[in-house]
Amino acid sequence: MLKKTVLIIAVLFCFVSVSIAADLTPVKLPAPVTKGGRPLMQCLNDRKTDRSFSTKKLSAQILSNLLWAACGINRPHSGKRTAPSALNWQEIDVYASMEEGLYLYNPKTHTLDPVVQSDLRKHTARLPQPSRSSIIGAPLQLIYVADYAKMRTGISDEDGKFYSATDTAFIGQNVYLYCASEGLSSIIRSFFDGNSLAKEMKLRNTQKIILVQAIGYPQ
Ligand SMILES: Cc1cc2nc3c(=O)[nH]c(=O)nc-3n(C[C@H](O)[C@H](O)[C@H](O)COP(=O)(O)O)c2cc1C
Repeated sequence: MLKKTVLIIAVLFCFVSVSIAADLTPVKLPAPVTKGGRPLMQCLNDRKTDRSFSTKKLSAQILSNLLWAACGINRPHSGKRTAPSALNWQEIDVYASMEEGLYLYNPKTHTLDPVVQSDLRKHTARLPQPSRSSIIGAPLQLIYVADYAKMRTGISDEDGKFYSATDTAFIGQNVYLYCASEGLSSIIRSFFDGNSLAKEMKLRNTQKIILVQAIGYPQ
């Protein structure tokens, strides 16, 4: 009897978890606006790291433009991106952590695909310092994750780390420049608790978080 009750509770628990995860629906982003913006030289002049953010959310259009600038497809005939990658492996996945949950950016469909229905932004800082609370309160944390399964097999660990770091940096700089163009604040960070964040994100064992970048309006 006890066994049966435990089994029923376990089944109910699974059902509730699945339906909660299913609540986070895919987001079809509006087409990115790929014209205009401030001149490149002005953006380079204004590119900087910021550490205080307003909690104001980003509009769907800003999110669309930002993700396309990060690593969207700019040559549909070849599927190549705004950011280069070693041997065109495209091994860096961009996850978007927002209040409503965690999504994976899919450049092919220009959608945000649901991953976890939970606000994981607090897991993107390791230290509970006051300056961190403004950073993790930013409406968007982009989490750059290398998937080593997408790289050539047989590559050394050292080369894998090198290419995933350089490929992430190009994406991060694209985001910094887009932020400079739009008057948004941004900070890229390596100081986070990678193990606990990876667990919360339910990453596979071929995946590794490289950097995290906060984006929002200035405070
Ligand atoms: C790979 C990398 C990792 C970084 N990690 C952190 C970090 O963990 N915490 C932080 O406050 N800033 C971090 N930064 C931001 C740097 O401190 C910042 O870029 C530097 O002070 C220069 O400032 P600027 O970006 O305004 O030129 C990181 C920057 C890079 C490129």
